Amino acid sequence: MRAIVLRGSPRRGGNSDTLADHFIQGLKTADDIELFDFILNDMNIRPCQGCESCATSENHKCAIDDDMQQIYSVFADADIVVWATPMYWGYMTAQMKTTLDRMEALAMDPEKYWVNKEFVAILTYRHHYQSTIGFFERVQDYFKFKFSSLLYCSKNEEGPEDFHVSSNKEKLEEAFILGERLGIKVIS
Ligand SMILES: Cc1cc2nc3c(=O)[nH]c(=O)nc-3n(C[C@H](O)[C@H](O)[C@H](O)COP(=O)(O)O)c2cc1C
Repeated sequence: MRAIVLRGSPRRGGNSDTLADHFIQGLKTADDIELFDFILNDMNIRPCQGCESCATSENHKCAIDDDMQQIYSVFADADIVVWATPMYWGYMTAQMKTTLDRMEALAMDPEKYWVNKEFVAILTYRHHYQSTIGFFERVQDYFKFKFSSLLYCSKNEEGPEDFHVSSNKEKLEEAFILGERLGIKVIS
């Protein structure tokens, strides 16, 4: 089983990062995992330039030669793709959105890149997550991936500091169980 984890937060050890770690621990209870873990903030991924060469070229390749090539090279054979991101100004972070835009090159062949994959959105937020969930639900009909989500609200009504998910044992457990469940589902 191949799993790709895309980490969209700039905060290492933050909420979405921690939940992704617990998801991975659950996933690893299944045998034979090939894991590709991408910290998008540390990668050189340029924004899509809208050149349309992925649409018009024969091989549908993206014209930009940067770290996105690492993700392209493993995406087709992935069974599980985790999109772990906080909400920033009403949507996924810029790091995640930049990566998503560059997925345009993979949109030319849904059968090869999207159909039947298990997509998991791990979303952390203070007020709102619906726009990012809405995106996945909107494109799901066309790309035919399976979709699960794990949500964590870090808002602390009593002070300026968010609640870190590490103090929420139930949420960590939920992440672990989701990983475990999907691992079993994919290998069986
Ligand atoms: C620049 C910035 C913008 C944010 N915008 C939103 C927002 O629009 N909606 C929301 O619910 N939370 C927003 N938040 C809160 C984060 O989503 C929240 O703190 C989240 O738990 C952080 O996740 P992380 O620890 O994985 O980075 C924002 C935080 C930052 C730093």
